[in-house]
Amino acid sequence: MKAVVTGGAGFIGSHLVDTLVASGNEVHVIDNLQSGLLDNVHPQAVFHEEDIRSKECKEIIAMVKPDIVFHMAAQADVQQSISDPRTDADVNIVGTVNLLEACRKAAVKKVVFSSTSGVYGN
Ligand SMILES: NC(=O)c1ccc[n+]([C@@H]2O[C@H](COP(=O)([O-])OP(=O)(O)OC[C@H]3O[C@@H](n4cnc5c(N)ncnc54)[C@H](O)[C@@H]3O)[C@@H](O)[C@H]2O)c1
Repeated sequence: MKAVVTGGAGFIGSHLVDTLVASGNEVHVIDNLQSGLLDNVHPQAVFHEEDIRSKECKEIIAMVKPDIVFHMAAQADVQQSISDPRTDADVNIVGTVNLLEACRKAAVKKVVFSSTSGVYGN
């Protein structure tokens, strides 16, 4: 299987990439390293340093034509979402729409969205 993991240099995404690589999948990571680290990315994964809001991100999806996209890239810092809600919305909403549009055009069959720990409540 061919998989793209956005946010694959982050906390959850990097562990997911490790598991996908260990299971024998071809894995591509799209991450702009805003909070993630290149050292987190499995050496057998193909790393693309790109922003999910960019046209380059769409071009990668069109080129790779993945079977599945795991969408883990996010501005996940709650304090920052309060101090700078515009950037938060830009990454988390506009970025997600950009990615979904690329997936639709590339006929990606499945997208897995990681939601937020906020849904658990206190
Ligand atoms: N941590 C939790 O308990 C938890 C639980 C459920 C869901 N989630 C969700 O899972 C997702 C990942 O969480 P995490 O804890 O791994 O966060 P994280 O900050 O460790 O990882 C996010 C990754 O996205 C990248 N990124 C940020 N903006 C980007 C952009 N514009 N373009 C490309 N890459 C970008 C960062 O560089 C980072 O590598 C988030 O949506 C979060 O809300 C987290």
